[in-house]
Amino acid sequence: MTTFSFFKSLLFFLLTISDSFMQINGLSFGINYGQIARNLPSHSRVAMLIRSMNVTRIKLYDADPNVLLAFSKSNVEFVIGIGNEHLQNMTNPSKAQNWIQHHVLPYLSQTKINCITVGNEVFNSNDTQLILNLLPSMQNVHNSLVKLGLDQVITVTTAHSFNILDNSYPPSSGSFRSDLIQYIQPIVEFLDEIKSSFHINAYPFFAYKDNPNEVSLNYALFQPNEGLVDPNTNLHYDNMLYAQIDAVYAAIKVIGYTNVEVKVSETGWPSNGDADEIGATPQNAKLYNGNLLRRIEEKQGTPGKPLVPIDVYVFALFNEDLKPGPASERNYGLYYPDGSPVYNIGLQGYLPQMVVPSKSNILSFNVLACIVTCLIFALEILES
Ligand SMILES: *[C@@H]1O[C@H](CO)[C@@H](O)[C@H](O)[C@H]1NC(C)=O
Ligand SMILES: *[C@@H]1O[C@H](CO)[C@@H](O)[C@H](O)[C@H]1NC(C)=O
Ligand SMILES: *[C@@H]1O[C@H](CO)[C@@H](O)[C@H](O)[C@H]1NC(C)=O
Repeated sequence: MTTFSFFKSLLFFLLTISDSFMQINGLSFGINYGQIARNLPSHSRVAMLIRSMNVTRIKLYDADPNVLLAFSKSNVEFVIGIGNEHLQNMTNPSKAQNWIQHHVLPYLSQTKINCITVGNEVFNSNDTQLILNLLPSMQNVHNSLVKLGLDQVITVTTAHSFNILDNSYPPSSGSFRSDLIQYIQPIVEFLDEIKSSFHINAYPFFAYKDNPNEVSLNYALFQPNEGLVDPNTNLHYDNMLYAQIDAVYAAIKVIGYTNVEVKVSETGWPSNGDADEIGATPQNAKLYNGNLLRRIEEKQGTPGKPLVPIDVYVFALFNEDLKPGPASERNYGLYYPDGSPVYNIGLQGYLPQMVVPSKSNILSFNVLACIVTCLIFALEILES
């Protein structure tokens, strides 16, 4: 080996390192990217963070064009959202069509969008008009996609809060609140018809916080525990999230549907909270999310649907300091806005123990890569 080619190999090696620095082992799961916060990193830095986490599915609460552009030509698939404030307009077919024309079509050739959630937790509002607008809005958005030949590419659904159930234990006796069934039934019928899925935001944290003396923390956190047996089915549950998912399947069955898949559009655990929010600690958040990611990686199904791997979007990417409500609301993030992890997820290889490079670090990486590239080039000239 000549000195030149030795140097060249060395430099290529350096170049490879500088390039692959951000690629840390991870696994494919979905994450909610909320932006109700000050000082979040730029969308392009977030795209880098997401890539290093190996996350391939992101859920947005809107259709932020800057995010969709930042993920151009990436392998990330998006669930985008139409906020509740737009539902009134979406009941008008031409406005729905217009929304798709402006918020989806321009990005579709570069960015993968495979689902639109129309409205979020609409039944949590006491707004009857909003509730009545939900289904027609979903239908109009779907029909717009049909007209454009996109209905096989992009599905339409809406995300529900878990408290639309009035009974969730045992899971087999899950049922929807009786005052909501009149609205939920036609929505499920529509989802069934268009082969879409039922999305639920499920937080075992709430159940634990409300009743810390009765609810087993280990059961809520996917830690080793005795679990619970559903007396009607004899199915054994070792964690609350699976029981919640199966309770939703049961509630859907009560109103007559068995083919609609239940997906978890949000779940997570806060790393901090108010004094009365028992359990909101970094240790518990790390256990909940770390254990959940392992279940996702194992492609587990729930006891009631063992062949259907759980489909989950973790809440959330960042702590969002502008969210109203109790302190926990602002502390669900895996990352602080500066890009550093809130806690080490604790399981080797699952989430990157990375610090997003600051602008100057990115610069120095790029400068390093440039210098190395130039040296290789110079050596090649010298060599020839
Ligand atoms: C990223 O996830 C994909 C799909 O799960 C997997 O095949 C790949 O090995 C992962 N890459 C890294 C760097 O972890
Ligand atoms: C609803 O549509 C009207 C006119 O088409 C528009 O001015 C208004 O901003 C829209 N509302 C929302 C919340 O986007
Ligand atoms: C809805 O109404 C009920 C009872 O009328 C009330 O307890 C609850 O706080 C209200 N929820 C919202 C979001 O306004």
